[in-house]
Amino acid sequence: MTSLIETSGIGKTYGSVIALRDVSTVVNAGEVTCVLGDNGAGKSTLIKILAGVHQHDRGSLKVEGEEISFASPREALDHGIATVYQDLAVVPLMSVWRNFFLGSEPTKGVGPFKVLDRRQGREVTKKALSEMGIDLRDVEQPVGTLSGGERQCVAIARAVHFGAKVLILDEPTAALGVKQAGVVLKYVARARDRGLGVVLITHNPHHAYPVGDRFLLLKRGRSLGSYDKADISIEELTRQMAGGAELDALSHELRAAQVDPEASGAASDGVVDKEDVG
Ligand SMILES: Nc1ncnc2c1ncn2[C@@H]1O[C@H](COP(=O)(O)OP(=O)(O)O)[C@@H](O)[C@H]1O
Ligand SMILES: [Mg+2]
Repeated sequence: MTSLIETSGIGKTYGSVIALRDVSTVVNAGEVTCVLGDNGAGKSTLIKILAGVHQHDRGSLKVEGEEISFASPREALDHGIATVYQDLAVVPLMSVWRNFFLGSEPTKGVGPFKVLDRRQGREVTKKALSEMGIDLRDVEQPVGTLSGGERQCVAIARAVHFGAKVLILDEPTAALGVKQAGVVLKYVARARDRGLGVVLITHNPHHAYPVGDRFLLLKRGRSLGSYDKADISIEELTRQMAGGAELDALSHELRAAQVDPEASGAASDGVVDKEDVG
């Protein structure tokens, strides 16, 4: 099977800043590739390369086996790569269904927005949402009235509806509470089950692990490896995310400083939580 996306030793510099170096991973149809890393790790740089916003200056990017460097986001969309950014580009006062069609570039699917009448627009939106299991009372309501999680879900349904092959989500759960994050992850899984290749960016190994098939770990622009799920446990993933050896040293220090074992346990837990929220 040819991967939807394959990067080999990909790299990118901004002037003298090396934002990304030597990153190799794959995105397959019906699978979720998670990209994990702290702030400044290079996650956004990587997805901007895949989305056609920036061009890589090292290594190779293959899309369905074809070596490529996207000149623009439009070109990436034409190859079926849809990206949902963290600050969703929605018009808050516009209705859900209008937003659903707004700038609906992704490749195949229904015709341009202008041939739709309002009723059809509402119906298509409702149907697309319900096919993803999203039940919105009223698609005429302003998108600004939706919760952050609901907006992410609508954006996921939109990419699926307009025929995206690859769906890139930049930290879709970062600003969400536990319950909403769970709902968004459910739709990530649905998109995967519909056969899309999903790239999920997150800080949180507990969000990544249940849905991920592969985990690309980035740290200060370098790859710490791309692991298949069978090759890395949630514990190891969490350890790597929390700084691995650095965290071990820190918790050792905390233990040494505090004689009470209860207190040191709580302190090192606190460090992990902070990373999660990040
Ligand atoms: N447009 C840019 N110009 C210069 N440096 C940048 C630019 N975008 C990102 N960087 C730098 O590249 C590194 C990786 O950033 P980024 O990809 O945004 O990381 P992440 O999304 O994981 O937080 C950081 O050191 C950041 O400061
Ligand atoms: Mg980022």
